[in-house]
Amino acid sequence: MSINYTDLLEFDKNHIWHPYTSMTKPLPSYFVKSAHGVELTLSGDQSVIDGMSSWWAVIHGYNNEILNNALIAQSQSMSHVMFGGITHQSAIELSQKLVALTPNNLTKVFISDSGSVSVEVALKMAIQYWHSKGLPEKSKLLTVKNGYHGDTFAAMSVCDPVNGMHTIFEKVLAKNYFAPAPLTRFGDEWNERDTALLNEFFANHHSELAAFIIEPIVQGAGGMRIYHPQYLKEAKALCEKYNVLFIADEIATGFGRTGKLFACEWADIKPDILCLGKALTGGYMSLAATLTTEDVAHVISQGDAGCFMHGPTFMANPLACAVANASLSILQTGKWQQQVNRIEQQLIKQLLPLSNHHRVADTRVLGAIGVVEAKQAVNVANIQKRFVDMGVWIRPFGKLIYIMPPYIMSESDLSQLIEAISTVLNEDNCFV
Ligand SMILES: Cc1ncc(COP(=O)(O)O)c(C=O)c1O
Repeated sequence: MSINYTDLLEFDKNHIWHPYTSMTKPLPSYFVKSAHGVELTLSGDQSVIDGMSSWWAVIHGYNNEILNNALIAQSQSMSHVMFGGITHQSAIELSQKLVALTPNNLTKVFISDSGSVSVEVALKMAIQYWHSKGLPEKSKLLTVKNGYHGDTFAAMSVCDPVNGMHTIFEKVLAKNYFAPAPLTRFGDEWNERDTALLNEFFANHHSELAAFIIEPIVQGAGGMRIYHPQYLKEAKALCEKYNVLFIADEIATGFGRTGKLFACEWADIKPDILCLGKALTGGYMSLAATLTTEDVAHVISQGDAGCFMHGPTFMANPLACAVANASLSILQTGKWQQQVNRIEQQLIKQLLPLSNHHRVADTRVLGAIGVVEAKQAVNVANIQKRFVDMGVWIRPFGKLIYIMPPYIMSESDLSQLIEAISTVLNEDNCFV
């Protein structure tokens, strides 16, 4: 029986919410029939090269044989089992790998369902830590503008107040502190004034601060800004000076994307709490992890509650853990370094020069991330259609046209992505 894609898309348009999309004036959705390697096959049998890695997650490519086999093998023994009072091999192996791969102060692993939840867990850990220490007034958070940490309420309370439309949720959102976003760009000369206001926030508010949270090196959805590692060094030093926990949200940057396994390595710092997600999963099943130190775990466990107050139904889902294990095993071969480096070199050569285009305000590259910031906002529906016509999948937002391809992408496929970006820059109807 042939599938009527028009009907399916019509139902989708009328009944299904898509991320950040109007229900009354929805942007078009493209129907993906299957995905393999770096290609998505659309309903008309057209293939598009994926420049987004399904939002940073699919680092080893779609329909990866090793990940598929891990998923099948796990499903044949057990797809799910509660984690309360039960444990299993996939969760243990995954945690062993995470402890081995991340900075050596991080030895306690909390596995959860999604990036936003791992941020909730991190924030709760920080607050419960100070509560357990008899300092419940240390319950506020400090962060920087232009950040993005997820869509749940606590995560939202540390997202950029303007991008995150805090005004709508004002009555329920926790009020936290926002220092200016880091200004000195990665690769530029460090400007000491960059942390001047951050210093003041720590000095004035440390007695109420539980934690400082930041996306290390790359601020993703809040503007694709790539900043100087010295900012992180200074922020970490301030956390130590003022007794504030440092939370690194590496949900987007983790697992090689910036050219280091973790972006914190650029600044040679060890966070007190680390959030991981996205690439952790290989792009298969929703999963995230929050790692912390012996100290944080012990203090929480000795506090009033006697335990950490969180425990989702699908905590450490065996299927998701098994695929994540397989994904980390691929990373542990070390091949990602050459792959990311090769992508970076090509982006430097072919994408950075687009800064000369009259429509472009800035271009920036780090690891397997390439960003073209236009002077005007894009017309999403038109630009998306043009990209699909040219055989690529790139999903810009605001003024940002950016790519973070799967690490396995070939040189010619990456050239096609960059050429498509270069082409749309000449087309008026792709911009508002
Ligand atoms: C830095 C960062 N933190 C948290 C999140 C939220 O993750 P999830 O969408 O899995 O809830 C994202 C997602 O884009 C992210 O980029």
